[in-house]
Amino acid sequence: MIGRLNHVAIAVPDLMAAADQYRNTFGANVGAPQDEPDHGVTVVFIELPNTKIELLAPLGVASPIRGFLEKNPAGGIHHICYEVDDILVARDHLQASGARVLGSGEPKIGAHGKPVLFLHPKDFNGCLVELEQT
Ligand code: CO
Repeated sequence: MIGRLNHVAIAVPDLMAAADQYRNTFGANVGAPQDEPDHGVTVVFIELPNTKIELLAPLGVASPIRGFLEKNPAGGIHHICYEVDDILVARDHLQASGARVLGSGEPKIGAHGKPVLFLHPKDFNGCLVELEQT
């Protein structure tokens, strides 16, 4: 069911410092910051030859990554995103297998303009999983 790794997301305390590090130290192709008010984050995408890195910083007081950064003040891997062909088929299959979908269970539009869902980390080895329909 799952397809390619779409991105690995890293929560960072200083978005511009992290973007500069990837640009200058790694020589990576770093995009412009994008505010995602529906998700409570500002993101910077880094294009790698085979996948992307998503740098995440909190946007707004209710940002879902504030708690993560309180526990991990230096930053850390926040989630991984797998591609699926049909997000509703994937969701129904996963829920039938006992996995919990976060939020309302209905897909939201993610940072790439495509439908996304998040799966409970306790059901996936402690790793928050994002599914993106491609
Ligand atoms: Co993501």
